[in-house]
Amino acid sequence: MSGRTLAERRHDQRHPPAARPVYDRIGVGYSHVRRPDPRWAATIRHAVGDARTVLNVGAGSGAYEPVDLAVTAVEPSAVMRAQRPPSAPPCVAGRAEDLPFDDDSFDVAMAVLTVHHWSDLEAGLGELRRVARRFVVVSYDMAVQGQFWLTRDYIPEIEQAERARVPELAHLADLLGPAEISDLPIPADFTDGFMTAFWRRPAAYLDEQVRRACSAFALTDAAAVARGIDQLRGDLDDGTWADRYAPLLDLDQIDAGFRLLTGVSPRRE
Ligand SMILES: C[S@@+](CC[C@H](N)C(=O)[O-])C[C@H]1O[C@@H](n2cnc3c(N)ncnc32)[C@H](O)[C@@H]1O
Repeated sequence: MSGRTLAERRHDQRHPPAARPVYDRIGVGYSHVRRPDPRWAATIRHAVGDARTVLNVGAGSGAYEPVDLAVTAVEPSAVMRAQRPPSAPPCVAGRAEDLPFDDDSFDVAMAVLTVHHWSDLEAGLGELRRVARRFVVVSYDMAVQGQFWLTRDYIPEIEQAERARVPELAHLADLLGPAEISDLPIPADFTDGFMTAFWRRPAAYLDEQVRRACSAFALTDAAAVARGIDQLRGDLDDGTWADRYAPLLDLDQIDAGFRLLTGVSPRRE
């Protein structure tokens, strides 16, 4: 079953998928599962610091936007823009690669869990540096995330797909300019339901709505995901998972490779 409503299917017919932002297809229900985690929100707010004006690029439904500052959001997907709460700051339809703002329009540009979706990373980061004096970027290191039990042991196809699209951290830092890089650990009760969020709550991955809210699942071959999830279901039922991953149950948080990159936009030529 596709899980799409009649209205969504009609929208698909009017706007062929190839012409639409990917998140118009995979972003349905995002904000129900992807609830910003308060601990990450505090860390990101701290990184934004004493800025007055903030641009949030690839803003999605508005997660992690500082509520006490003048924020402008940019987001290409209408499905994602429609999930912004009524109280959220204004959101412009646009792409990182071509930001509709003058040079130095903002104190800070933030980009959270979005750079791996951009069609031209270099152009997008160049735009970030052009329109803002500082940057706050959240991405993840596949050298660490590739070790996650779900992808390593159940759905390796996800890891292969992720390696093809997630920029290497060193490359990201090179393109941004001098950056301070810090770890963003994932507590066991993390609320933002991306792929590694449920590392100690494995039954969550059996829920199709959880998988739909995460592009790593949505963009991987559906048969491979179904096979891995069936295997996980069996291992949960017969106790194999609990035996194999018992040490995880003693941990309060893990490093799944998420990194915060902050810095001053290098002076442009
Ligand atoms: C995983 S979501 C993250 C959304 C939000 N920043 C958050 O933390 O919840 C990735 C977002 O990047 C957006 N995106 C994809 N391509 C983009 C591009 N070229 N420029 C800007 N945003 C883009 C998607 O539409 C999607 O909303």
